[in-house]
Amino acid sequence: MAAVTALPVSLSARFKGSFAYFTVKDRLPQILTKVIDTLHRHKNEFFEEHGEKGVEAEKRAISFLSKLRNELQTDKPVTPLEDELPDAALWNQYLDYQRNLSNGNGEPSWFQSPWLFVECYMYRRIHAAVAQNPPIGSFDVFKEGKAQNFFESQEAIIALCTYFQELLKNIKDLDEKQLKGELFKLLQVSLWGNKCDLSFSAGEGSSQKSSPLQSLEDMVPYIIVNDMEKLWTLLINAKKRNTDKCNVRVDIILDNAGFELVSDLVLTDFLLSSKLADEVHFHGKSIPWYVSDTTKNDFNWTIKQLQAANHMWMSRCGINWEGNLKKGIWVYQDHMFWTLPHIYSSMAEVAPDLYADLQKSNLLLFKGDLNYRKLTGDRKWDYTVPFHQALNKFHPAPLCSLRTLKSDTQVGLKPGQGEQIQASEPEWMISGKYGVVQFDATP
Ligand code: F6P
Ligand code: MG
Repeated sequence: MAAVTALPVSLSARFKGSFAYFTVKDRLPQILTKVIDTLHRHKNEFFEEHGEKGVEAEKRAISFLSKLRNELQTDKPVTPLEDELPDAALWNQYLDYQRNLSNGNGEPSWFQSPWLFVECYMYRRIHAAVAQNPPIGSFDVFKEGKAQNFFESQEAIIALCTYFQELLKNIKDLDEKQLKGELFKLLQVSLWGNKCDLSFSAGEGSSQKSSPLQSLEDMVPYIIVNDMEKLWTLLINAKKRNTDKCNVRVDIILDNAGFELVSDLVLTDFLLSSKLADEVHFHGKSIPWYVSDTTKNDFNWTIKQLQAANHMWMSRCGINWEGNLKKGIWVYQDHMFWTLPHIYSSMAEVAPDLYADLQKSNLLLFKGDLNYRKLTGDRKWDYTVPFHQALNKFHPAPLCSLRTLKSDTQVGLKPGQGEQIQASEPEWMISGKYGVVQFDATP
């Protein structure tokens, strides 16, 4: 019988000096402070909309969040959720699981438990603070930041939409080599679009200022796992095999709103317009998450903004995309699993419906750093462990991660590759400067 190798430990703030430690100690409290400030700043608006009840709700939400910040900063035990939101029972079961893991070595707590768990838990409690307090229950505390990222990236969005609409004019005449070249460009724009995430900068601006297409070539050396060829082979083979009977379906597990979302939508449009895919399913978050992640509201808002833009190509994109949604070749979905603390190797057990749905896809594209952490379990892996192994039996369909490195976990590197980058750039895993297009086809 093959030996079962133990999994490496989870990243955690208990490792002093690690990125997890720095995040729990400094960045998460900063994010909470910003959320509290945002609620304060909207006090008048809550009053105008809901009268005294709105102001009372705001006060209750703020006091809940201040308590949360104190629990975090003083490393208190992570407490069970007390709200009645639909996912509360699953969260509390997960907390029990963490408690059992600690083997009587104290309660799960902010600085002792796995980083992924406590970080997700913070966002879930932020959601509870607002959702439990009608009439402000549907207020998205991160909305302003997401909208600001979109507006500050205006120039880059114009450049990308213009490039793409020009490309569409002769897309039918492109030969395979040209098609592949265009796919690679738009994959890279979507990859580097992942730099624009607001939880990383603790909510400070992080928009795309320059043309996203200009410096792609210079950035190729920073793609430390580059499986674009494998992606192309999968897509072109699927297209060739494709008869009228079976659609090629691609799923995009979205990450951040703002410029990154627009880059994902352009990539999607390209896949359909080039007939490399016939339908695309987007997976967003059902609650505000990790500051800048895309919710259904953000998704629809973005398309509306584009449509209404005072720029011909931007608005053409928005109009086409709205049409794709209406035709049902673009499908937006959300599932509570994406905002649970579970890693993806437990999806088949925790969310069998979602797993079964993903099995219908020809290709899953996972955007961003958090998705990478959940794919690979957020562990202290050796850099050379194969991606397939780190996925730990999560294989609903061929999948690819497009991620800029913003947390210190990475697999699938060549021997010595990680050490070599480390020697010249100690911050390489957390700076967002490096990226991967990392593919796994094997079931
Ligand atoms: O803490 C940094 C961080 O918030 C990570 O926790 C997380 O992995 C990442 O930023 C979010 O990045 P992304 O939006 O790419 O998932
Ligand atoms: Mg994100």
